[in-house]
Amino acid sequence: MQLSRRRFIALTGKIILLFGLGGVFPRLAAAASDTLPIEALRQLITADPRTSRTIMWQSKTPLEGCRLQYRAAGGNFQNLPVIQESLNEDRVTNYYYTAYLKNLTPATNYQYRIWQNNIATPWQEFITAPAEITEFSALIFCDSQCGQTYDGWGQAFRTAWQRHPAAHFFAIVGDIVDNGQQEWQWQNFFAAIADILPQKLFIPVMGNHECYSLIWKFCRPRRYELSYNLPANGDTELQNYYYSYDYGPVHFIVLNTQMLELKDIHPHLLETQKNWLRQDAKNHPARWRVVLMHKDILAYDEYQEGTKTMMSISDTGYAFMPVFDELGIDLVLTGHMHTYRNRGHIHHLKPADKGPVYIMSGPIGNQQYHVPADKTFDRSAIYQPTPENYLLLSASTEKLTVTCYTAAGELIETTELSH
Ligand SMILES: [Fe+2]
Repeated sequence: MQLSRRRFIALTGKIILLFGLGGVFPRLAAAASDTLPIEALRQLITADPRTSRTIMWQSKTPLEGCRLQYRAAGGNFQNLPVIQESLNEDRVTNYYYTAYLKNLTPATNYQYRIWQNNIATPWQEFITAPAEITEFSALIFCDSQCGQTYDGWGQAFRTAWQRHPAAHFFAIVGDIVDNGQQEWQWQNFFAAIADILPQKLFIPVMGNHECYSLIWKFCRPRRYELSYNLPANGDTELQNYYYSYDYGPVHFIVLNTQMLELKDIHPHLLETQKNWLRQDAKNHPARWRVVLMHKDILAYDEYQEGTKTMMSISDTGYAFMPVFDELGIDLVLTGHMHTYRNRGHIHHLKPADKGPVYIMSGPIGNQQYHVPADKTFDRSAIYQPTPENYLLLSASTEKLTVTCYTAAGELIETTELSH
């Protein structure tokens, strides 16, 4: 039987380990301790983060037979099969790997690593959510899209985690990259945070920039679809477009606002989504219901295809706000306009003292714009030009608190909601 080169190296590596002859075969010993060429190792949210976790990673060459190993700290490890997919865009093929960890124990430290033949990544760690969480905090970023370099994004991400090390997860509410098909964008977005990303739980939200092709036309966001395997929402055609998950006293609903960009591909995106949303949120027992979605509910001088104006409520606002009123949504967090605005409660499309609270934030990337005020709805705003900023969301059964910080550490505003 002829041995393949890989098999030969694997066997030789085992023999070296067995007899301790690493010094005799220095080159082969070096191969055995080599690193796996994997990129963008990440943890993604599942519908129930107390008992499950999704781990994904990528490579530029196929890693046949690679597996995920995991163990509760100090326990025996288990091997999980991996789902492999690939995509060629922008003249580069990326291989995507997904492992679904299930039946985990709540509030437990786990370790995981990727393993192929006799080479493994260093162990990474995560903690499952406690069975009963009465309070927690999370980081909410918007518009991490960058031009030229993602270094600033990486620095802001690390600084935010240093400032709020107790946060349980982070979300990026759309426009994660500037161009949904450009290899450079995806590569640099992940590379800038690769040192701490494997230890953090990531909640991705699709934005309009994920739906731009290399020539800036609307396109199916294939790379986003493959990059983020997210909780199943029941519609296989729209898998990874919208979803929900529970975290302690909060039911989070992630919506997709790209009806314009996806109109030729998914013409029924809004109706399908609203039907799902009604089923998902109605009578949900969670104390709070919080929506994360990319495009804002106001136009702020951005031309709206539907209303044919640049004023007041946006197409996204008209599409979703009546449903939020109907379902009693508590808080809606958006991005897209690259500035911080707090509009307080809006009900029946008018400023009110009840109804959902609408807060927009961002950017956390380096794309800065001047954004005009909306005199009817804006209750408070950050100064212009808007510096990089993010939100810290704190939740307990008694109250929801949203605090806007600049990446430099300035506290802009705290908003508190209580029942
Ligand atoms: Fe956007």
